[in-house]
Amino acid sequence: MKFYYILILLTASVGAVSAGPVSKKERPQLPSFVKVCRRNDPNLDMCARQSLLAMKDLFHYGIPELFIPPITPLVIPEIKMDQDSGAIYLHSTFKNITVNGLANYTINELHINPKKMRLTLVMSVPKVAMDAKYVMKGKIMMMPLMGNGDFKANFSDVELSTLITAERYIKIIVYLPR
Ligand SMILES: *[C@@H]1O[C@H](CO)[C@@H](O)[C@H](O)[C@H]1NC(C)=O
Ligand SMILES: *[C@@H]1O[C@H](CO)[C@@H](O)[C@H](O)[C@H]1NC(C)=O
Ligand SMILES: *[C@@H]1O[C@H](CO)[C@@H](O)[C@H](O)[C@H]1NC(C)=O
Repeated sequence: MKFYYILILLTASVGAVSAGPVSKKERPQLPSFVKVCRRNDPNLDMCARQSLLAMKDLFHYGIPELFIPPITPLVIPEIKMDQDSGAIYLHSTFKNITVNGLANYTINELHINPKKMRLTLVMSVPKVAMDAKYVMKGKIMMMPLMGNGDFKANFSDVELSTLITAERYIKIIVYLPR
């Protein structure tokens, strides 16, 4: 779930980069350091890949212009999980989740389908370290389970895979006479 969050961040910014031509007035200002890819670029995938790789350091420190927080470390205030599969019931809350190592990503696969407004992205990260505080409550079979404390974990060879679908929307502004 933690990875899901960061993926949204990463792909959201790809989305921003690869958004098609909008009318001049509507186009949000992208910072000059973002390599812009055009929707009708025949090498759109390659362009987006280069753009995403070029932004590695930027992600590391965060991009305030695009409201992207630093990913080294990436701090997620809270994640709640509820698992309920009959015999096993588990409710857990992780707080102050600190994730390190994500800025070291490589892109394995990146494909943008501008017609379907769909983006597929597979990345891998050699090492990810995670720190958090957890509270857990539940039941396994008949056994009650409860606990809280520090959560620390190291993951290696993490593969992150995501599919983003987007939608166009039309903004209608109605001016009402006074
Ligand atoms: C969150 O975690 C980081 C690193 O694990 C620690 O430095 C920071 O003090 C913690 N913040 C809170 C509010 O617990
Ligand atoms: C990133 O990965 C490279 C090798 O792929 C490694 O040498 C480097 O120490 C890593 N950096 C971090 C911050 O994990
Ligand atoms: C995670 O890795 C770091 C450095 O590689 C090490 O110091 C730490 O003890 C490891 N943590 C766990 C929970 O294995």
